[in-house]
Amino acid sequence: TKKKLWGGRFTGKTDPLMHAFNQSLRYDQRMHAVDIKGSIAYAKALALKGILTAEERDKTVKGLEIVGKEWDDGVFQVQADDEDIHTANERRLTELIGPLGGRLHTGRSRNDQVATDMRLWLLDQVEEIQAALKDLVSVMVERADKEKDALLPGYTHLQRGQPIRWSHLLLSHAFSLQSDLQRLQELKPRISILPLGCGALAGNPFLVDRQFLAGELGFQSIAENSLWGVGDRDFIIEFLMWASLSMTHISRMAEDLIIYSTAEFGFISLSDAYSTGSSMMPQKKNADSLELLRGKSGRVFGNMAGFLMTLKGLPSTYNKDLQEDKEPLFDAVDTVSACFHIAEGVIATLEIHPSKMRDALTMDMLATDLADYLVRKGIPFRETHHISGRAVALAESRKVQISDLSLEDLRELCDRFEPDVKDVFDFEASVEKRDAIGGTSKRMVERQVRVLREILHAP
Ligand code: ARG
Repeated sequence: TKKKLWGGRFTGKTDPLMHAFNQSLRYDQRMHAVDIKGSIAYAKALALKGILTAEERDKTVKGLEIVGKEWDDGVFQVQADDEDIHTANERRLTELIGPLGGRLHTGRSRNDQVATDMRLWLLDQVEEIQAALKDLVSVMVERADKEKDALLPGYTHLQRGQPIRWSHLLLSHAFSLQSDLQRLQELKPRISILPLGCGALAGNPFLVDRQFLAGELGFQSIAENSLWGVGDRDFIIEFLMWASLSMTHISRMAEDLIIYSTAEFGFISLSDAYSTGSSMMPQKKNADSLELLRGKSGRVFGNMAGFLMTLKGLPSTYNKDLQEDKEPLFDAVDTVSACFHIAEGVIATLEIHPSKMRDALTMDMLATDLADYLVRKGIPFRETHHISGRAVALAESRKVQISDLSLEDLRELCDRFEPDVKDVFDFEASVEKRDAIGGTSKRMVERQVRVLREILHAP
């Protein structure tokens, strides 16, 4: 059998179970392209220091490109002894270009290599996640712009509160997700720090030009401390925290929509494309897409909590525990991307039922407006709140709506009520009164659409 990359000091054989236990190639092969990219840059850096001749550099780069193409074409032959993506690529390179392949790792360790790969890989993923999240937010914004006329109850404590526009609700979720876009952008400078050139832990004795490496690989800055460079995984924790928060937003939005899609509410229906049926109850149409969006938040939080736990007791620099950074990160990346795409589809295709929404509006939801009416007549709000409350109680005792109370009834409660009080009992008018920035008036909803569009289209 072939010798291990690190086999020089060993005489005994690795236990087969241990080999499998230690092996990460199964999942870290996802990083094949960035691993090759890092190695190509490193070969060039070695040549700048005369460790590879120009000819050797070209041969090495060409070999690496062939290895990369084998991965791309799905023909890379994994061997039983390959431990991880780094050893697999180096093994294959050496098969292709001979002993020269063995020069590439000069001054480099898998410790600075893997940290570099992880950062490069995550930076690429962040671009894709940003694009997916932007698409989701724009679908929400465009939908909100089209459906400004639909009114529905706004809830606190899941009890009917005040009438609002459906668009206003949809945009509230869009604003949460827009903050996620902003936050993700802010993570990038801390992901984009180059570890390559830190060696195993103490630094690079061949004086490779790390500025050059950073330039070749597109890093914004360079790890200034080699111990930190190989041992830091905060960028992964930060991403997992980011993903957890964003999934919280997805989950809360899903919860609203699940409630609204029940027969009891009936405000929306999901398209068939995002629903499933029951194996037993023929009438069922379940909002599985939304339930999965809500449910998948749990696994992302788990990825975050799990890897934080892995990290917290580690001594400085590299420890093999750090190999456990990959599966949670990869899973979180896959999960948030899938969730953003599904949420986009769900929102793009759901149907709203404006008449059902309107039917859920009740006149007691205008009790605040009734109090505000008296405020405009000069009475302090604390008093008008009480008067309006008594009107609600009176209507309740008579089993009528507050709008059914006569002017005389209202005058019993306060002599400042006048005939124009009837104008209070109008949902549209109530919504239009909330015309300060952030309110649910049409003008302010339009403003929100404008603000979000500007953010989305900013370069
Ligand atoms: N597969 C390893 C990881 O993912 C690469 C680094 C291994 N380094 C080492 N000294 N064993 O962390």
